[in-house]
Amino acid sequence: MCGIVGFIGSRPAVPVLMEGLRRLEYRGYDSAGVATLINGAIDRRRAVGKVSSLQELLDRQPLEGTIGIGHTRWATHGSPSELNAHPHANERVALVHNGIIENHQLLRAELEAKGHVFTSQTDSEVIAHLVSDLLDRQFSPQNAVAAALKRLEGVFAIVLVFAGRHDLVIGAKRGSPLAVGVGDGEMYLGSDALALAHLTDRIIYLEEGDWVEVSCQGCVVHDVNDQPVVRQMQHTAFSGALIGKGDYRHYMLKEICEQPMAIGETLSSLVDPVNAQVVLPELPFDLATVSRFTFCACGTAFLAAAVAKYWFEQLARQPVEIDIASEFRYREAPMPNGGVGVFVSQSGETIDTLSALRYVRTQGQPVLSIVNVPESAIARESDCVLPTLAGPEIGVASTKAFTTQLTVLACLALAVARTRKTTSPEELERLTLALISLPKLIDDTLLIDGAVRNVAASLAGSRDALYLGRGSLYPIAMEGALKLKELTYIHAEGYAAGEMKHGPIALIDEQMPVIVCAPVGPLFEKTAANVQEVLARGGRIILVSDRVGIEKIGRDAEAVIEVPPADNFIAPMVYSIPVQLLAYHTAVFKGTDVDQPRNLAKSVTVE
Ligand code: F6R
Repeated sequence: MCGIVGFIGSRPAVPVLMEGLRRLEYRGYDSAGVATLINGAIDRRRAVGKVSSLQELLDRQPLEGTIGIGHTRWATHGSPSELNAHPHANERVALVHNGIIENHQLLRAELEAKGHVFTSQTDSEVIAHLVSDLLDRQFSPQNAVAAALKRLEGVFAIVLVFAGRHDLVIGAKRGSPLAVGVGDGEMYLGSDALALAHLTDRIIYLEEGDWVEVSCQGCVVHDVNDQPVVRQMQHTAFSGALIGKGDYRHYMLKEICEQPMAIGETLSSLVDPVNAQVVLPELPFDLATVSRFTFCACGTAFLAAAVAKYWFEQLARQPVEIDIASEFRYREAPMPNGGVGVFVSQSGETIDTLSALRYVRTQGQPVLSIVNVPESAIARESDCVLPTLAGPEIGVASTKAFTTQLTVLACLALAVARTRKTTSPEELERLTLALISLPKLIDDTLLIDGAVRNVAASLAGSRDALYLGRGSLYPIAMEGALKLKELTYIHAEGYAAGEMKHGPIALIDEQMPVIVCAPVGPLFEKTAANVQEVLARGGRIILVSDRVGIEKIGRDAEAVIEVPPADNFIAPMVYSIPVQLLAYHTAVFKGTDVDQPRNLAKSVTVE
């Protein structure tokens, strides 16, 4: 997590750095800081809290300079205090860091024994001392960084400036993302291309172990063996308009409303509408002979995989295992021959998912990833990628990335079902047409916004909430609960409706809102019975269903949210909308920070 930026040019650095930090704030917002060189000397400003707090400080105490670095932090080692805020600096060097230095205690002890005085509790500060120690020993900045990198264990991206060197910024990458932006007579570094999108569309992505010397004129990249290498410059598609908030109050609401378009884009990359057939790009394995798919992901992306399990098993009769990456990566799961690993991630940088992917590779299995950031580490390390075409997702809570992940997974399930001949061609065509209808259906579903807002008003006062669903709607219940807790800090649980009686039913009383996702379909009557069990114990039912479902069991509900009728296959996408909007509006009622909920970060690059 953490966002880092660097700038070298001939205009004031701080406005450029601050705009970059605002764009990177989704990565963490516990503290922020910038450092520049003024007449060769390092100066810095650091503030606890969001980038806006740093801006207020800079308004009171401006910082000049045409070269500098900046950081927005998601705290790992050390509390979010000013002393722990980056940049870490001494008289010789200033540094920003994203990642974790695993051997920091050892290095710190070694450097303290040499007389270095540390001022923070962070692991990052050791890098600044390590480099300055080498500078003291007459190493050039380049040689000092190259030598320091060899002592560091862990994952990191770093950017450094050096006292007296107005002509040099150095960046290095191992495990955490870092991109170099190419300007005209100026250059930039950033954790991702989004941070630089307002400055340039010319990006050089560093590879693992690379470090880079950057001047106003350009850059020289060195590989892990310190040899100069050429890394291709790429043109990104990001534009300022794509990543603005538009007329929306929050990024999250904008992104919820973008779902018809995002799903439509994603579908058009995978579906031939004329023949109503899924057309996948060439895959490095034969779909017909895959013995098992192992889906691995974190958080919301995991819940997309959890929905997919129902589709793959029912439609394709395909054995599927799903797991959260942080557990999977250490379980040493045996991977049977003929299996394929599937990794789902919006950012493509989630370290647990990436590590799980690497484990699967060591087991000799092909790796397919479903990612939203095509340049990400997960995409690069996969044998093939099915991209979600959601566009940049800035709100920390995932919305359009989730429904586009579902869209890709649904297409994949249909392709497997066709290959394995487990579903008839007529049924496959019907299901594909259902998928094609999704953008319009989601558009119609978004009309429930006002109704959801009314329900949210009553939910905002609750301490707890229970979400129930069955079949492929069970993961949607979990997703609803996840969204509610991360945005509103209301404790929420998502449960399989049939499992409620094995424990959670003890929680039901007149205070407990129970949000039930119950589309009319094969499992409706079963869920209806669970609704009765809640009502019989005085629980408050918030029923999310279609017109028929509401007519059948909505009478005794405290509130109903009516969504358009949807084929059972695509119901998970449709029911994602009410649970997203419910969490969103409840958060607005509570006045919590919708786009940047406390303690969270969008890109989780630490374990
Ligand atoms: C929740 C949310 C997270 C992410 C998770 C994985 O709203 O956004 O649970 O889904 O951190 O992130 P990615 O998809 O980037 O791997």
